[in-house]
Amino acid sequence: MKKLIIANWKMQLGYRASLDLARLYTKQLAGLKNEIVLCPDYLSLPAVSAILKKSGLLLGAQDSAASARGAYTGEVSPADLKALGVKYVILGHSERREHLHENSAIINAKIKAALAAGLTPVLCVGEKIAERESGEARPYLAEELRHALKGVKIKRASDLVIAYEPVWAISTNKDAKPIDAISASDMLGFIQSKAANLLEKKPRVLYGGSVFPGNAADFSAQPVIGGFLVGGASLKLTDFKIICS
Ligand code: 13P
Repeated sequence: MKKLIIANWKMQLGYRASLDLARLYTKQLAGLKNEIVLCPDYLSLPAVSAILKKSGLLLGAQDSAASARGAYTGEVSPADLKALGVKYVILGHSERREHLHENSAIINAKIKAALAAGLTPVLCVGEKIAERESGEARPYLAEELRHALKGVKIKRASDLVIAYEPVWAISTNKDAKPIDAISASDMLGFIQSKAANLLEKKPRVLYGGSVFPGNAADFSAQPVIGGFLVGGASLKLTDFKIICS
């Protein structure tokens, strides 16, 4: 089955560098059998959307507002993202939870607004090192899912994706260590079944956190892992191409 591979460029590239990388990827990654999604920053989205047209690569956003329209200074409407050709939107990323104090109620509202606009939310969940070390990771993840998915209804399993990103494994953390493929697969199985209970549909689950060329094949071999959410390695053609292949 095709894997879904999402490049989260975060705020790592300037405008011109985003466009250059998008152009390079349309040439170098076209024709690969997996579904590949590029998520540039908001400013680059319209130009990257034009670059990706007819390339076979898909467009994603790194966030979207909790309402379609209104007096929300600085926000971007999911309806406008949809009109621009965006298919996926990352919501609840741990960096937004930490630095922008996004809580479960906001993430829940953003998921509902994104679905109403016809976008596919990629809900990020992941425990921090404290929960990991105290053996509380599973109850913590179950709570994150319960709050984020409260009252969320989807028609098809493919309408929503969940990404498991253990916060301690994300490469911007200087002590980050990737989880091994078997443990990741166990956690994803747990997340998928909890989410299936809440949604009454079994969503695709992705792994994210220090995915590199050297570990992608091990993760990919696990049937429950439906793909990856990739940060650092999505900024380098050689690395990202191996992960996407
Ligand atoms: P890294 O792949 O750099 O660890 O980032 C993961 C991530 O946060 C993707 O959303």
